[in-house]
Amino acid sequence: MSKVTITNHPLIQHKLSILRDVNTSSKDFRTLISEIATLECYEATRDLPLQEIEIQTPVAKCVAHNLAGKKLAFVPILRAGLGMVDGVLSLVPSARVGHIGLYRDPETLKPVEYYCKLPADIEERDVIVLDPMLATGGSAIDAISLIKAKNPRSIKFMGIIAAPEGLDALQKAHPDVDIYCAALDDHLNEHCYIVPGLGDAGDRIFGTK
Ligand code: PRP
Ligand code: URA
Repeated sequence: MSKVTITNHPLIQHKLSILRDVNTSSKDFRTLISEIATLECYEATRDLPLQEIEIQTPVAKCVAHNLAGKKLAFVPILRAGLGMVDGVLSLVPSARVGHIGLYRDPETLKPVEYYCKLPADIEERDVIVLDPMLATGGSAIDAISLIKAKNPRSIKFMGIIAAPEGLDALQKAHPDVDIYCAALDDHLNEHCYIVPGLGDAGDRIFGTK
């Protein structure tokens, strides 16, 4: 079964409280999503493989470490995952970025795919899928299935708020995918919104409601 990490660092919890607040502006919401993504990325990249290199400091030669081989690809799920991209790239600027466009059909609440563009060398990369909200889990499950079909080295999922229902569904569908979130909330309501959650992440990032 996959590993679930709830990164409840005090800085993340503080930022999350402001993020959830209905009175937070789109501008602040975007900043906070990006900052939380940076902090979570620090934890989600903890096990990246290193290789030894020899370098010359101004004082002496020494053995140091850098990241081994081809590195990461981040894949945001459009739209809301886009809000996390700048934050993770601030830590791993050389990462490639793919995009998967999915939206939840308002009637069926099932994800509908409308875009998929992934790095050509994805087979040589570790992928971190980005989406702030893990509600029913349908979007993350479908996005990860699309990525798996391209045979990346590994896949992790990084969200911000998860519902227990989505976490459970994602673990069952993809038991090999480790999950990182900042909070595990209480439940889904009748519209499959996370409670207490933060509302519609895409609309709050882009100010579309
Ligand atoms: C939201 C969110 C996730 C999805 C989560 O996207 O960003 O992708 O819902 O719900 P699920 O776990 O039940 O699939 P939405 O469909 O609202 O699209 P948007 O990002 O374009 O607003
Ligand atoms: N998508 C969102 O943006 N928010 C939720 O609470 C559930 C799905």
